[in-house]
Amino acid sequence: MDRITEPELMDDAAQARAYATADFEQAHSEIMRHFSRCLAAHPPAVDGGADGAFNAVDLGCGDADIAVRLAQLHRRARITAVDGAREMLHHAQQRIDAAGVGVRVRTALAVLPQMPLPERACDVVISNSLLHHLHDPQVLWRTARRLGKPGACVFIADLSRPDSPAQVEALVQRHAAGEDPVLQRDFHNSLLAAFTPAEVENQLREAGLGHLAVRAIDDHHLTVCGALED
Ligand SMILES: C[S@@+](CC[C@H](N)C(=O)[O-])C[C@H]1O[C@@H](n2cnc3c(N)ncnc32)[C@H](O)[C@@H]1O
Repeated sequence: MDRITEPELMDDAAQARAYATADFEQAHSEIMRHFSRCLAAHPPAVDGGADGAFNAVDLGCGDADIAVRLAQLHRRARITAVDGAREMLHHAQQRIDAAGVGVRVRTALAVLPQMPLPERACDVVISNSLLHHLHDPQVLWRTARRLGKPGACVFIADLSRPDSPAQVEALVQRHAAGEDPVLQRDFHNSLLAAFTPAEVENQLREAGLGHLAVRAIDDHHLTVCGALED
């Protein structure tokens, strides 16, 4: 089944609200477990390794659920949560404030490939569910390379495109049947817009990041993990 792109930014108020109020507890806890394993395998070269203070960037942070989880897991991490959608960053700021992590998590409005930070500023580059939104996936890989210091830990998670429209429908029924119709529609469109693990491997090779490891972690998610080379 060919990829069908969806709009990049989630800047519609109803769409951002549906996303920010959805329950991603199970999926995001699982993503963070995979992130922790990736960080342990590729600790940033800072004092104390993964337990020390490090600068992280969360690309396409949405409502900052992942950024807040990262801040809670790593009490010395300083995180820049980047998104191009003002509506999403409004929900992100509310979540950051409610979690009381505003001293260490700041939001930045930027539409990639616009650079949200100076080059080579980050020890950790993390992103969940951004890749499938990008019409040109190389935007993510180029941004990760430019923002990460040599040796930076890179962890990207995303949806993985099923083989057929019937599989897409089955996944929507299995994982989003009781959700807001707006969220169901977005999940359906996102599965169609996602890449397969083989496509992501090709993207990484083209970006000079072929050493990063791509893994299918369940029937509709994949991860990319590794460290930037010096
Ligand atoms: C599906 S949401 C994922 C949000 C969050 N990372 C999470 O895991 O819950 C994708 C986010 O990427 C943002 N986005 C898409 N394309 C972007 C771009 N070119 N630059 C910045 N943000 C972008 C959207 O606005 C949206 O908030």
